[in-house]
Amino acid sequence: MNEVEAARQRHADVLLKIEGLEVHYGGVQALSDVAMSVRRGEVVTVIGANGAGKSSLLNAIVGVVPAQATTLWYAGADVSRMSPEALVRRGVTLVPERRELFADLTVDDNLRLGAYHRGGKDGAVQGDLARVYSIFPRLAERKRQRASTMSGGEQQMLAVGRAMMTKPELLLLDEPSLGLAPLIVQEIFRVLAQLKAAGTTVLVIEQNARAALNLADYGYVLETGKVVLSAPADALYNDTRVREAYLGVVPKTDE
Ligand SMILES: Nc1ncnc2c1ncn2[C@@H]1O[C@H](COP(=O)(O)OP(=O)(O)OP(=O)(O)O)[C@@H](O)[C@H]1O
Ligand SMILES: [Mg+2]
Repeated sequence: MNEVEAARQRHADVLLKIEGLEVHYGGVQALSDVAMSVRRGEVVTVIGANGAGKSSLLNAIVGVVPAQATTLWYAGADVSRMSPEALVRRGVTLVPERRELFADLTVDDNLRLGAYHRGGKDGAVQGDLARVYSIFPRLAERKRQRASTMSGGEQQMLAVGRAMMTKPELLLLDEPSLGLAPLIVQEIFRVLAQLKAAGTTVLVIEQNARAALNLADYGYVLETGKVVLSAPADALYNDTRVREAYLGVVPKTDE
């Protein structure tokens, strides 16, 4: 772990702290000695190419893939042995890469199931539903429609809406813009900005580095399972290596 990360991890507002994280699938090492941190109220992004280990990182945090870590702390407690359900109850919710909606249930029922883990009381659930529908009017128009009949973009909105119903303190998102049309991507990032403004802490994994770095406060670059760069998001955005590898900026050549 470098000194900058060590200093980040000592900060009083640190909400999620990861050190020495390793993930193996048989002989494949997906993550190696990863150190990362997220402070309360921040949006942190992790950018990286296909197969860099991005999903493994989020899945390791919530305990859906086996991992070893010297530190995996959330809100001051060791959560390395905690089940995904227990983490949701503590305020950590993952929107997974394969949205994992209930295809045969309606939009409304999918959203209500999001409130299930916190044993939401009826009145509170109604209020939260109203909030999700006001943020995503398209879901309100389709509340009686089955999830499987929705477009990819609408399904992603539903997955984010369902996560909001868990009332997360830390929202983890695995490539929310993957495969979506530019207008829908904008919509998703607009909602993430709203969540941030409302005080939700966000860790978002993205290949769409431009949108992610625009939203984020801090960023990490993951390459073949290792953190190769980390910095405040605006510094990463202006970093030549990031621009060439992830922002599609053609390097200048001397004529
Ligand atoms: N269940 C698995 N079994 C074996 N290898 C796996 C498994 N899941 C992932 N891997 C491998 O681990 C590495 C990291 O995969 P991971 O899915 O975490 O990457 P990613 O950055 O999320 O990729 P993508 O951009 O494609 O979503 C890859 O080499 C991948 O092939
Ligand atoms: Mg992935």
